[in-house]
Parts: sequence; structure tokens; C-alpha cells
Amino acid sequence: MSAVERATGSYAEAFRQSVEQPEQFWLEAAEAVDWDVAPTRALDSSSAPMYRWYPDATMNTCRNALDRHVAAGRGEQAALIYDSAMLGTTRTYSYAQLLDEVSRFAGVLTAQGISAGDRVIVYMPMIPEAAVAMLACARIGAVHSVVFGGFAAAELAARIDDAEPKALVTASGGLEPGRTIEYLPMVERALGLTDKAPAVVIVKDRPSIPGTAADVAGWLDWDAEVAAAAPADCVSVAATDPLYILYTSGTTGKPKGVVRDNGGHAVALTWSMRNLYDIGAGQVMWTASDVGWVVGHSYIVYGPLLAGATTVMYEGKPVGTPDAGAFWRVVQDHQVRALFTAPTAIRAIRKEDPDAKELANYDISSLTTLFAAGERLDPDTYEWAGRVLGVPVVDHWWQTETGWAICANLRGLEPMPIKAGSPTVPVPGYRVEILDGEGAPVEAGTEGNIVIALPMPPGTLAGLWRDEDRYVRSYLSTFDGYYLTGDSGYIDEDGYVFVLGRSDDVINVAGHRLSTGSMEAVVAEHPEVAECAVIGIRDELKGQRPSGYVVLKSGSEIDPEQLRKDLVAMVRDQIGAVATFRDVTVVQALPKTRSGKILRKTMRQIADHDEYTVPSTIEDPAVLDALAKLLGPGA
Ligand code: COA
Ligand code: AMP
Repeated sequence: MSAVERATGSYAEAFRQSVEQPEQFWLEAAEAVDWDVAPTRALDSSSAPMYRWYPDATMNTCRNALDRHVAAGRGEQAALIYDSAMLGTTRTYSYAQLLDEVSRFAGVLTAQGISAGDRVIVYMPMIPEAAVAMLACARIGAVHSVVFGGFAAAELAARIDDAEPKALVTASGGLEPGRTIEYLPMVERALGLTDKAPAVVIVKDRPSIPGTAADVAGWLDWDAEVAAAAPADCVSVAATDPLYILYTSGTTGKPKGVVRDNGGHAVALTWSMRNLYDIGAGQVMWTASDVGWVVGHSYIVYGPLLAGATTVMYEGKPVGTPDAGAFWRVVQDHQVRALFTAPTAIRAIRKEDPDAKELANYDISSLTTLFAAGERLDPDTYEWAGRVLGVPVVDHWWQTETGWAICANLRGLEPMPIKAGSPTVPVPGYRVEILDGEGAPVEAGTEGNIVIALPMPPGTLAGLWRDEDRYVRSYLSTFDGYYLTGDSGYIDEDGYVFVLGRSDDVINVAGHRLSTGSMEAVVAEHPEVAECAVIGIRDELKGQRPSGYVVLKSGSEIDPEQLRKDLVAMVRDQIGAVATFRDVTVVQALPKTRSGKILRKTMRQIADHDEYTVPSTIEDPAVLDALAKLLGPGA
């Protein structure tokens, strides 16, 4: 049976084949994609450790996501359902309609001189035009870079600096409960902060939200441009050409520009739709995330459309829009078969509706599986969701860099028993191992660094945008021959992987990946602050939250509450509301090693009231004692 047809089969056999005969495995999987020039080879290792998939093939991702389904007679089928709980409206786009919108917007971009290889920044709320802009870029071979709407102007500017876009696409506003997000002033501010400002800015005006393109001279109005545009056709690109850049948090303040190719991405996502999510043409998948994150790229936009399925794009929250039944309403209204969300969302629903009483108001019988990712699915939340929904709750682990799941319970290929706290087993193509600090393999059940043997499967990052050095330094140089995931965990006797958390300074707040390093850089700018550390501490609802520890300059007499207010406002202004930085503690000194490294892990253990051992390299144990008195269980 070929990998394309394998909707049910043996996980063990598929995994073995992917490792022993990767060429054959991934060439077979590639048969599910429409190529302009079909691949004769799967992997090019000639420039290892920079690997390239399908080096002699050409294709177009947008053609695979739209045109070919229309050509196959699916034109009238729903492609994208936009459900705005914020506005109380729903709009359905058939494949034919979405193709029309995308072709026209591709025509707008072409008319503005954007062509293959040019970068386009998309800074938009959860409205269909965000997906249209992404697909239009793919159609003409331009490279999109979506910036999450919750990031502030300085973060947008940092991404513009790095990507050097020719165009920026935005909207007049977004809607968050209780307030509107005005994008235009933020875009203006960002453009003032960079010397790489794009020549073209296109604004989708939302009538319900103030601010229009006309407010800023020279900016183009989406609707007017689309009305006048001639549709543009697909441009054939090399499978190895970039489809998008997605910036993600590293340990420093400078975000990493993860580069995704076209061909490997299309093959991997198509394979995952059938084998992992068990979703085929005509079935409905709802990923309750945001197009600004990788989960949104892969499973709001590309994955479901590549599979000819129907995707739901939801503008709203799990609670408060209007209540804790919001998710169940969407499942019912759109006959959702697979729902994918972050554990935080489930915790938020549970907190508000512990007995899931809201479920009685809806018929969710279409739902077969709840998928969770973005952060660890804690056993308590897992048990609750499984009990109230009565469907399998499937955790799967991945990252922006990999673009699709590293470990999962492959519901289409071979559903396996679920163990609470584990995303189950490595997905075919991923050779996952646990290494200790010296790079030696550890015994089953022992915690260590989770690494993936190179090469990784198609769909994973091709590198970092124009920074091969940083790519090698960040991911490939710690352990020779392996990709470092940055997560720590263990593999049990049955081969199940358990992901326990990050081993670096990246934190995960409500499924949003953030860098404590970039928050520290902001906090350090305060005139009264001599030194600071920001760590991620446990949070019942959001998994983690940032917590700042500040040493004041000698003689400073600033009121601690004033300091807190200043710092909260600074982080919100420079990084964005999504950072949810609220905790500030003034300390006399920060615990450090003799070489001056701040003992962040020990600080985290103290703040979380976990057990900790005093590191032998500590400079002054009294500093740690003082911290334990301030933050420890007895405090
Ligand atoms: N644009 C602008 N601002 C945004 C935003 C966006 N797209 N998304 C979030 N924000 C703002 C929020 O309005 C909030 O601002 P506030 O401080 O003024 O209230 C802040 O960023 C923090 O947002 P969030 O972390 O989402 O907290 P919340 O209290 O609004 O909601 C949850 C809590 C649990 C309901 C929410 O975090 C959630 O739905 N999480 C699911 C996570 C998810 O989908 N992750 C994606 C990866 S899979
Ligand atoms: P992002 O790149 O934003 O998708 O964040 C990736 C990080 O989120 C991973 O490196 C993990 O730390 C964490 N993560 C994502 N999914 C899971 C999961 N299922 N279990 C545990 N951690 C997860």
C-alpha cells in the first residue's frame, strides 16, 4: 500500500519504512500533491546539514489548495467558513469563491510589482482576508510573513527589518473582548521605526471598526484594489523555494525567521491530514488558533485546503464571546469533525463551566476527536475534556520550526492507546532521541534533551531567513547530527514520548511562545533598574506566565507599585498585550553562578515551590536563601 492511500495501516510499518527507505516513503507521499514537474528524488543531502526536499520538482501551493479542487468538481463545496463570535456573523466561501478572491488579490499584488521571491508582511486579525492574502502570495510565488496581531509596533518593525518586505497587508482593526485593536496607528509607528519600510501598504477596511486606508496618504484600499484587479494565475515555483517566513521567539530578543519551503510543506501537511487528523475532502476541521501562529498556518489555512476539506476560521475566544458554550456552538453550527485547540482554551472553559453544563445546549455529535497542542496537555485537563466530550482527546507535540507534529497519536494511520501526559509516539520521519548534557543517549524513563536525528522529514524548516549561521548555532551545533528541539523530556519503556517543558528561556503563555530575553531587554531599559531577570512561572490557566525580578539602582526610592505599573506598560507597549507581563518583584540581588550567569532555573523552581538543589557553582548562597524566604512556600 502506498503512503498516499494508507488511511489505516500499521504505525510501526510506516515508521520503519520512513526511516529505512525515506526516499521511497516520501516519493510515495508526494503522489498526493499535483506537481508541475514531478519529483524524481525526495531528499537532497548534498549541502548537509542544509537539507532540501524534492530538489528537481516544481509546483504551486495555491494551485494545490484551491484550483485543483475546483477542477475536480468541488467548486461549490465550502472551503472556508468564517465565524465571528465578535460580530455575531458567519460567512462561507466555496472553493470557487475563495479561488476567485485569491486570484484577484494576487492580481492586486502583481499590479503593485510584487513577484516571485518578494516578501509580503501580513498583519491582520482573524478575518478571511488574512488567509486570502497568504494564498495570494503563494499563488504568485511571493513569500508571506504573517505577524500575530497581538504584537506591538516594535515587534512588527523587527520583522520588517529582517524580512525586507515589498508590501504590507493589514486591516483597519481587530476585535478583542471589550476593546478594538487599531492596526493603522501601530503600522504607522512600526514603519517609523524601520528603514526597510515597504513601498506598498494595503488596508482591508472593516466597516465596524474605525480607521481607513484613506487616513494615510498613499495607502491602498483592499476593496477598491480588488474590484479593479485582473485575476492572476499560479506561478510555478521550485519545490525548494520559500513559501513563507514565520518569526518565532528564540532566547534572545531578536526573533528567528523560520523558512518553510513549498514542496516538502505540501507533501507533509497532506500526509498529516489523512494519517494524523483523519480528515479528508469534504470533512470539516476547526483549528481554534490564530493565523499568526504556526498552528494557524498549517491547520487553519494550508492543511485543510490542501486536503480539499472545509476549514473554520473563528474570530472569538473560548469564553466570554459570549460564554463557555462558544466552542460547542461552533462545532454544532458547522458540523465540525475535528477540533484542534490549545489546552489553555479547555482550561478556560472548564474554569467557567466546571460541569460542562453548556454542552446540553448543543448537538456536538459531529465531533470525533479533540486535538491539543501548543503547550503540554496536563493529565487533569485531558481527563476532564475526555469525560465531558466523550471523544478521544489527542495531544500532539510540535513547534514553529517543524511546521507539523513531531509526536502524535496518528488517528488515521493507526489509533494507539493514549497515555495521559504524553503526545504518544514519534511521527514517521522523525527519529526522536533523548540525550544527556554530554550528548550520550539516556535510559528509558530518564529525562534529558529531546533531539531529532538529521535529516528531519519534509515540511520542517529549511533554515532561518538569510541567517544560516544562526540556524546552525541555535539548532544543530549542540549535538552533532541532531536538531535540538529546546524541549526536555523522556521516552518510556513503550516508546511513548513525554515532553516536560523548555530547557531554554522560551516560555509558553496561553499557548503563545514568548521570549523572556526580549522582556528582560525591555525591563532593563527602565531608568531605576540595575539588573533584572524574567522567568516563566506556573499559571493555573495559562500554563505559564512571565514573572520579573528586579534589582534597583543604589539609592533608588521608586515606589514598587509605580515601578510595576511602568514596567507593565513598557512591556505591553514594546512587545504587545499578548506578553501578559504583570508580576514584578523587587529583590536585593539575583542569584548567580561564579561566572555571572543568572540561575533562572533555580529561581523558577523556588517560585513554583518545587524542590531544588543549590547549584555547586553558586556565587553567594545567601542570595538564594533570601529569595526562598521571599517566594518560597512559607512566604
Ligand atoms: N490581537 C490583539 N491583541 C490580542 C490578540 C490579537 N490577536 N490576542 C490576544 N490579544 C490580547 C488580549 O486582548 C489580551 O489583552 P488584555 O491584556 O488587554 O486583556 C492579551 O493579549 C492577552 O491575551 P490572551 O493570552 O489570549 O488572554 P485572554 O485573557 O484574552 O484569554 C484565553 C485567555 C485562555 C481565553 C486565551 O488565551 C485563549 O483562547 N487561548 C488559546 C490559545 C491559543 O489559541 N493559542 C494558539 C497556539 S495553538
Ligand atoms: P510554537 O513554536 O509556538 O508552536 O511553540 C513550540 C513549543 O511549545 C514547543 O517547543 C514546546 O515547548 C511547546 N509545545 C507545543 N506543543 C506541545 C505539546 N503538545 N506538549 C508539550 N509542549 C508543547
